[in-house]
Amino acid sequence: MTEVARQHEPGPVIEVAGLEKTFRVGLLGRQVEAVRGISFSLQPGRVLGYLGPNGAGKTTSIKCMLGLIQPSRGEIRFFGRFHRDPLARARIGYLPEHPYFYDYLKPTEVLDYAGRLYGVPAAIRKRRIGELLERLGLGHAMDRTLRGFSKGMLQRVGIAQSLISDPDLLIYDEPLSGLDPIGRKELRDLLAELRRAGKTLFITSHVLGDIETLCDEVVILRRGEAVAAGRLEDLLRRDLLESAATLRTPDAGAADALVGRFGDGVTVQQRGDGTLVLRLPSARVFELTQAAAALGAELVELHPVRDTLEELFVRKALAVESGDDTAASARPEAT
Ligand SMILES: Nc1ncnc2c1ncn2[C@@H]1O[C@H](COP(=O)(O)OP(=O)(O)OP(=O)(O)O)[C@@H](O)[C@H]1O
Ligand SMILES: [Mg+2]
Repeated sequence: MTEVARQHEPGPVIEVAGLEKTFRVGLLGRQVEAVRGISFSLQPGRVLGYLGPNGAGKTTSIKCMLGLIQPSRGEIRFFGRFHRDPLARARIGYLPEHPYFYDYLKPTEVLDYAGRLYGVPAAIRKRRIGELLERLGLGHAMDRTLRGFSKGMLQRVGIAQSLISDPDLLIYDEPLSGLDPIGRKELRDLLAELRRAGKTLFITSHVLGDIETLCDEVVILRRGEAVAAGRLEDLLRRDLLESAATLRTPDAGAADALVGRFGDGVTVQQRGDGTLVLRLPSARVFELTQAAAALGAELVELHPVRDTLEELFVRKALAVESGDDTAASARPEAT
């Protein structure tokens, strides 16, 4: 993991084209369309957030990509090779959604076994196991059996295991789920470190904001379809056209006057502490501060409203619902 950033070979690390997966469930074979035509690609050294609410199709996509289940349709390539090609698979580290380990094993044994499977030579294996367990904060628990490990500790064992072969591509299914705030922060730092080391990362999350700062690009899924895909800087509105102003008004009359003048078509929120939050076009902020001063109102806080993945998702999802396909169309190539 501490290896220096390597030179990337040309060409995408992941290519997914028209991926579909339909499950048949129950005696009558009812169809569940878990993934409905997803396409994207990911270049070396980039971090892709594969996001969407519960049941959106994230884990199903990963299982198809890794060849754990058979896709109904579509093509998947890793490093330009067919996705089931062992040469491609050998370069991938995977953290499942619910990592499962035999609880009578110790972390060192789990990692040693994984290292053997990947054909990591004994001397390198030994060194790397020590390094990884230390880096993941498991040094103190190295020789304890996994029985009694907390969820966060098991998650770290899973991550250490995914790194034992020093892979180029990491596919992590909900790496932050079930972790406490400190665990999440530590894991985010680790993911950032892996990115700096030149790894390509594919990370899923159902909490859109969780990995926002880490991703270069995203695919946002909803009911098996991509409602948004591409580079974050292209998808999020960076122009900060709106601002949120929090005001403390001397009386109800002043509040009404401000809402009457600036509240038209903007979000007004009366807080429990009596303050008023107005979300308005940034171009009108100066006018608002002058009007507030004239009415004896105090400007408590003023900040630009930043676009978030959460808002992007709501925008796109609503656009799909209202049939506005132009707003919802996802660029298939997230390169
Ligand atoms: N083996 C299966 N048989 C039938 N339906 C399945 C199977 N696996 C997944 N599904 C269905 O496919 C859809 C997508 O599930 P998937 O696990 O891929 O979602 P997810 O995005 O990973 O959700 P989460 O955030 O909860 O992990 C769901 O409706 C789920 O019920
Ligand atoms: Mg899942």
